Amino acid sequence: MTRRFEGKVAIVTGAASGIGLATALRLGSEGARVVVADLNLARAQQAAQQVLQAGAPAALGLACDVSHEEQVAACVDRTIADLGAWHVVVNNAGRMIFKPLEQHSAEDMIDVLKVDLLGAFFFIKQAFVRMRPGGAIVNVSSIHAEQTTPLVTAYAAAKAGLLSLTRSAAIEGKAKGLRINAVLPGAVETPMLRENPNIKSGLETLDAADVGQPEDIAAAIAYLACDDAVFVQGAMLRVDGGRLDQL
Ligand SMILES: NC(=O)c1ccc[n+]([C@@H]2O[C@H](COP(=O)([O-])OP(=O)(O)OC[C@H]3O[C@@H](n4cnc5c(N)ncnc54)[C@H](O)[C@@H]3O)[C@@H](O)[C@H]2O)c1
Repeated sequence: MTRRFEGKVAIVTGAASGIGLATALRLGSEGARVVVADLNLARAQQAAQQVLQAGAPAALGLACDVSHEEQVAACVDRTIADLGAWHVVVNNAGRMIFKPLEQHSAEDMIDVLKVDLLGAFFFIKQAFVRMRPGGAIVNVSSIHAEQTTPLVTAYAAAKAGLLSLTRSAAIEGKAKGLRINAVLPGAVETPMLRENPNIKSGLETLDAADVGQPEDIAAAIAYLACDDAVFVQGAMLRVDGGRLDQL
């Protein structure tokens, strides 16, 4: 495998599981020193161990709730102190809740927005101040930003907001030499997919051919984060096996 991240330091949020873990493994196997940031320290450290086994020159598991700005700042402090200059962040941590729109409380909306939108915003703010030119940010949105199903109002709004944030950050980040892009995964075989009550109840039906693997998304994220994508800025890359294209 080519090692496109040799000499680079990458933070991946929500990297103890699913797409985040696959991304941390991919970046690490391509030479990145990787910070696995997730809610639970033990799970983050366990994932960091896997990243080392995949060939990363260094990996660090950190507890970081991305919805708290001070925890995000502390995560970046530790990254730079332990691994050196910071080059890549993948804003992957996400949360989904399921209920009818009229049952969403203000707190429900805020809780989801804080993780899925503000979490990325906090890391982008840090990157704008502390990343050097040449840095890359990849935001993990969702096809729910474009088309959605019932019962996921907060999630769909947050993921659509994340695309808007990507656009604004790409415009302002360009002058700083930073690239900001987004991926919109379709259905991906992770715990989040299988715990989805809309899937369990059959409200949302899935053709097996429309279900991707976490590694499929990690490959797209790695492309956007690496120097091959040097002219890719503000892109919103749908990675859904063509699911949304079907009539
Ligand atoms: N699985 C899918 O079908 C699918 C489709 C589209 C988009 N996505 C998006 O991909 C991303 C990863 O999802 P996944 O399917 O791998 O889910 P997952 O549940 O396997 O992993 C999510 C990880 O995020 C962590 N996390 C949650 N809240 C956090 C917080 N506040 N701070 C730090 N970490 C936090 C969890 O602990 C978990 O390890 C999410 O943003 C999700 O919305 C997933």
